[in-house]
Amino acid sequence: MVDVLQHVTVLRDAAVDALSVKSDGVYVDGTYGRGGHSKKLVGQLGEKGCLLVIDKDPMAIADAKAKFQNESRVAFFHGSFADLDKALQDNDFPPTFDGMLLDLGVSSPQIDDGARGFSFQRDGALDMRMNPKEGISAATWIAKATESEMLEVLWKYGDERFARRIVKSIVSVRDEKPLETTLQLANLISAAVPRKFHGKKHPATKSFQAIRIFINKELADLEQCLDVAVEKLNPGGRLVVISFHSLEDRMVKRFFKKQSSPPPVPRGLPVQDSTLAMPFKLVGKAIKPSQDEVAGNIRSRSSVMRILERCA
Ligand SMILES: C[S@@+](CC[C@H](N)C(=O)[O-])C[C@H]1O[C@@H](n2cnc3c(N)ncnc32)[C@H](O)[C@@H]1O
Repeated sequence: MVDVLQHVTVLRDAAVDALSVKSDGVYVDGTYGRGGHSKKLVGQLGEKGCLLVIDKDPMAIADAKAKFQNESRVAFFHGSFADLDKALQDNDFPPTFDGMLLDLGVSSPQIDDGARGFSFQRDGALDMRMNPKEGISAATWIAKATESEMLEVLWKYGDERFARRIVKSIVSVRDEKPLETTLQLANLISAAVPRKFHGKKHPATKSFQAIRIFINKELADLEQCLDVAVEKLNPGGRLVVISFHSLEDRMVKRFFKKQSSPPPVPRGLPVQDSTLAMPFKLVGKAIKPSQDEVAGNIRSRSSVMRILERCA
C-alpha cells in the first residue's frame, strides 16, 4: 500500500549532525516515524556501520522495512524505545552503541489519518494508540475512568484550566451514550469550554494531547529509555533528544543535567569541580528550529533538541 501521508522531519540536519556519525558506528533511531532522520543517518554510514530503527507504530515499521528492504545495515524493532535492551538483543546488535536519537511525540501520518484517533479535526474511532495492539484505546479509557482519574490526566499532561467542566460534561454524556469518535469528544470539549476562552487553538487541543500522552505512557517510556540509553553509550557516543512538550523537555533537561553534574562533595573538602572526572557532558545549549523551518513546518514550532555525550 502506498502511504500518501507524509511527515516533514523536524531539525533533520541538526539532529543527525548532533550525532556526529562515525562511518563504522552503531546507531539507534528510537522514533523512526517515516525515516527522515534515519535516511540521512544511513547516508553517512560506511559498510561496517549499522542502524537499528524502533517504532511503536506498526505502520512506521512497515514503512522502514519497505524503504530499507535492500539495506543490510538497517535492522527493525516494532515496540517501545523503553525496551531498548530487547530491541538490541532481538537483532543481535552490539550491547553498546555510538549514538541514539529520540524525536518524540506523534508523526504527521498518525495525526493526519483520522482513523488513528489522534486528531480533533478529523473524524475517526477514538483510539490514539501508537501501537493499536497494545494497551487500551482512548474510548475504552474514557468509558471507564473515574472523574478524578480524568481530572488528573487533563491537569497533569494538558494543564487544562477547564478540566473540571470538561470532565463533568464527559461523565454526563457517557452515561447516555458512549463517546466513540474523535469529533464527538472534540465537540463536547468545545461546548464545555466557555466561548470567550475559545482562542486561536482548538479548545480540545490540550485535552487530546493529555489523553494521548497518558494512553501511550509517553513520559514513563521516556524515563525508562533515558536510564538505559546512557548506560549503553560508547565513549564519545551521543544521545540526542527532540521534545515537543514542556513535560518531556523538563525531564530530558533534568536528566542530562544530573548526568553531567559532579556528585555533591561535602562542604569544606578541598575538591574542585574541575578535578572530578565526569562521565557525561552537555553538548551546547538547547537547539530550536529556525524561523524559516517553523514557517515551512508549523509542527516544528514547539521543538527543542538537547544533546548529551559520554566523555571518552
Ligand atoms: C515525531 S515522529 C518521528 C519522526 C521521524 N524522526 C521522521 O523523521 O520521520 C515520532 C515517532 O515516534 C514513535 N514513538 C513515540 N513514542 C515511542 C516509543 N515510546 N517507542 C517507540 N516509538 C515511539 C511514534 O509512533 C512516531 O512514529
